[in-house]
Amino acid sequence: MAGNAFLRRHLPRLPFARRAVRRFMPGETIEEALDAAETFRPVGISILLTHLGENLTSLEGADAVAEHYHRVLNLVRARGLDAEVSLKLTQIGLDLDMERTYGHLAALAAHAAERGGTLWIDMESSPYVDRSLELYRRLKADHPNAGICLQAYLRRTPTDVHSLLPLRPQIRLVKGAYDEPASVAFRRREEVDAAYQSLSVLMLPHAARGELRLGLGTHDTRLVERVADHARAANLPITAFEVQMLYGIRTDEQRRLAASGFVVKNLIAYGEAWYAWYMRRLAERPANVLFALRQLFG
Ligand code: FDA
Repeated sequence: MAGNAFLRRHLPRLPFARRAVRRFMPGETIEEALDAAETFRPVGISILLTHLGENLTSLEGADAVAEHYHRVLNLVRARGLDAEVSLKLTQIGLDLDMERTYGHLAALAAHAAERGGTLWIDMESSPYVDRSLELYRRLKADHPNAGICLQAYLRRTPTDVHSLLPLRPQIRLVKGAYDEPASVAFRRREEVDAAYQSLSVLMLPHAARGELRLGLGTHDTRLVERVADHARAANLPITAFEVQMLYGIRTDEQRRLAASGFVVKNLIAYGEAWYAWYMRRLAERPANVLFALRQLFG
């Protein structure tokens, strides 16, 4: 459904779909996202912001997205929020012009660095991984405050981690959200979870030595606890890594983890182009489809 052009055009206009997506998204505007961000301040959870949209087809559109993110960084500063930005490379022109994309990345990373924040790059489907890593390596050389997402379901990720470690990278490890073929990705849940755990454990000592900023981008708190157990057994602090979760998912667990000493970040997505992103959230958890259908009947 994420790739269906007819649904992409029509479904977001239907009131029940708009009601359903509100569970994962405080609103379509940056102001609504920032208002939601404020509510996490008292519980010590800081924020990642992402403007939804991907695979843009015009350079003007990509330029406008980059401009929007500069505005976001200014608004974050004005509100004194602890918030960083996470973007998709196809949002700022990766399908169209690599050099222009790099120009946007470098300018945004420089802007984010003014307040000591990281500019995060999301990871999209497997055909984009090489180009994303190429741009990341280049960006990291010029802007140490650059972070990238890696997907544990990809068979190549251990090799990518080893090749990135000398750069003192900032890595968000996720399980992976795209429907990838078995030739490039693990398809079984147990295999993905095992890959996730072993990658986390591999990166943990580097993170504890300050050579890597490690974000565990997952709602799988059992996995997080297993990584924390490894840390404790190796006498490493659980603050060596941070836990990053999406707005609206396992909020109670986010608060519990923050209260028990974990560093927790909440990623708030907003924007009008939520269709493909929302379909991936439904695919992750079939119960969400029932929730969406219930909105159909009010
Ligand atoms: P898993 O799917 O095993 O879920 C564990 C538990 O969490 C479930 O049992 C359920 O309780 C809860 N849960 C998970 N998903 C839910 C949902 N949609 N609705 C309700 N409950 C849910 N992917 C990618 O390919 N590129 C990227 O750049 C990113 N970026 C990113 C950033 C952050 C901060 C997060 C948290 C995730 C991503 N992802 C991503 C998505 C990621 O790849 C993955 O698809 C989801 O996080 C779901 O997997 P979990 O690790 O949460 O585990």
